[in-house]
Amino acid sequence: MQTIPHIPVLYREVLEQFKDIKNGIIIDCTMGYGGHTSLILEANPDIKLIAIDQDQSAIDFSTKRLEPYKDRVVIKKGRFSTVIKEILNEYDINDVRGILADIGVSSLQLDKKERGFSFSSENLDMRMDEEAPLSANIVINEYSLHELKRVLLEYGELRNYKKIASFIVSNRPYYSAKELSDALKHLMPSGKKIHPATLLMQAIRIEVNNELGELESLLDTIEVTKFVDTKIAIISFHSLEDRIVKNRFAKWKADCICPDEAPRCTCSKDNSLGNVLTKKPIIAQMDELKDNPRSRSAKMRVFEMDR
Ligand SMILES: C[S@@+](CC[C@H](N)C(=O)[O-])C[C@H]1O[C@@H](n2cnc3c(N)ncnc32)[C@H](O)[C@@H]1O
Repeated sequence: MQTIPHIPVLYREVLEQFKDIKNGIIIDCTMGYGGHTSLILEANPDIKLIAIDQDQSAIDFSTKRLEPYKDRVVIKKGRFSTVIKEILNEYDINDVRGILADIGVSSLQLDKKERGFSFSSENLDMRMDEEAPLSANIVINEYSLHELKRVLLEYGELRNYKKIASFIVSNRPYYSAKELSDALKHLMPSGKKIHPATLLMQAIRIEVNNELGELESLLDTIEVTKFVDTKIAIISFHSLEDRIVKNRFAKWKADCICPDEAPRCTCSKDNSLGNVLTKKPIIAQMDELKDNPRSRSAKMRVFEMDR
C-alpha cells in the first residue's frame, strides 16, 4: 500500500469543472503524486488521460498509483512547455477536452530535505527535475550580482533586493538552504505568519525551475492551438502566476485584438477564443483549508475554449 504524500488542492472544484467531459482526452500537465489524475480518471470513466511531470520520483510513484487505470492513462516525463507540444502533435486536437495545470511544488518535494526546497535543507538544490542543469547552488554561488538582483526583484518582489544580493555575493559560498536563510534573516521582511526567508526561497525556486517561463510557454501553446471545445483549468499559488493567468484569459476572451495604443479598431472584432468561467479565482473552502493548510494560497481560474 502506498502512502500518499500530497493532498490534491481544490479537488472537488477540479472535478466539477471537468464533470461534463464524457469522452476524449484530458491532459494533466502536473501529475505529481497522481491525486487529481486518479480522481479525474475515477469520475470520468470514459476519458483518456495524458499526465506529465518532470520529477522522476513523481513519475515512479504515480506509475504505481495509476496502475488500475493503465489502459486509459499515458504518463510522460519532461517539462510541460515541451511535452504539451509533442502531445498536441501526436494526438487529434479535436479529442483534447480538458487541460489541467496545478503549478508549483508538491508536498513531497517540499518535505524531502535533500531536495533543497525547505529552509532547513542541508543542501542548495530546488530542482523539480533532478537532472536539470540549473540548481539553487548555481544561482546563489555563481550568478553575477546583476543576475541575483533581477531574481530577487522580479520573483521575490523584495524591497531591499539590492542589499540582499550584495550580502550574498560578498559572503558566498553558501552550502545549504539552512545556512543561507539563517545568514539572511536580519535582512528579510519580518512577519509573524511566514518564515523570514520565504520570499527569498521562493524567488530562487522560481528561477531554478523557470516557473513563470514554463507557465507563459504553456499558455502560448494553448493560445495558438485550434481547440474546439476545451476547458483549461490553471491552479496557481503565487500572485505573479495568478496575474499571468488572469491577463491571458482576459486576452483570450476579448473580441478585439488591436494593440491598446491603436487609435481605432481595425480588426474583425471576432477574435474571442471563448469564455472565462471564473470571474474571480476559485479558492479553497473552510473544510479544505482545515484539512490541507497548503491549499490556502491556491487559486484556480478556468477558461472554456470554443472557437
Ligand atoms: C503541486 S504538484 C501537483 C500535484 C498533483 N496535482 C497531485 O494531485 O498529486 C506540482 C507537480 O508539477 C510538477 N511540475 C511543476 N512544474 C512543471 C513543469 N514545468 N513541467 C512538468 N512538471 C512540472 C512538479 O514536479 C510537481 O510534481
